[in-house]
Amino acid sequence: MKKIFLYGNWKMHNGIKETETFFKDLCEHVCEDVVICDFLSRNFLEICIFPPFTSLFMGARILGYMGKTGLFIGAQNGHYEEKGAFTGEISFPMVQELGCTRVLLGHSERRHIFNESNELINKKLKASLQRRLRPVLCIGETFSERESDLTFQVLENQINAAIKGLDKENIRNIIWAYEPVWAIGTGRTASPENAQEACCFARSVISKVVRDEGKDKTWNSIPILYGGSVKASNVAGLLEQPDIDGALIGGASLSVESMLEIVHAALHRG
Ligand code: 13P
Repeated sequence: MKKIFLYGNWKMHNGIKETETFFKDLCEHVCEDVVICDFLSRNFLEICIFPPFTSLFMGARILGYMGKTGLFIGAQNGHYEEKGAFTGEISFPMVQELGCTRVLLGHSERRHIFNESNELINKKLKASLQRRLRPVLCIGETFSERESDLTFQVLENQINAAIKGLDKENIRNIIWAYEPVWAIGTGRTASPENAQEACCFARSVISKVVRDEGKDKTWNSIPILYGGSVKASNVAGLLEQPDIDGALIGGASLSVESMLEIVHAALHRG
């Protein structure tokens, strides 16, 4: 059975009060649900929520009380330096101090709205791995790049630029998220076949770098998530694809009800 990753990126939504309610409800439901508990405790399921910075402390505190295996909290961003004169920035040690164990990097909104370059993403990736803060590295093409048949080229460039200078051991700790830009927040989910094709391609690029010839197959188990308008009605079809290990969910992760619907749809698929 493959392990499933269901990750919720809240973006700039849910303040402290909403976060408190969400995490309390989530933990309560998860503890009462024998199926979810079973998947979590056997390490076949991982749930991680990425709230805005100001909500991290509240979410982490509630998770800490519950001490539930398989439930995590992560940051949406971070600076590659540990401290210094960087007004408005937050460092990786700071979010770790709050209880974060994951960090989102290279999200298309960071790349396109905030002009984050491949070089900057590479620096952040190196710093997060050095701190043992597990990165979730997002890659994906725009609509015009897909229309121009550039999808594979874009993915290959983004992957190679992100992992430049990293050793195999570190690369194996990255969680990848394929998020086609045209599918984010648009309601236009990629078809399972299109998502599989892109994730399979991404896996082949990553495997070229991390595989030890004839020796191991760890590259085969590198997690690759799909993101872009994921909801309860389409998650099962996506997870049935051999190269899709989970989902990075935006809008549908904002309420406990819809997040749990997705978890149930994912676990009861087929
Ligand atoms: P939506 O699920 O709202 O399309 O957002 C996807 C996303 O950007 C997750 O990182």
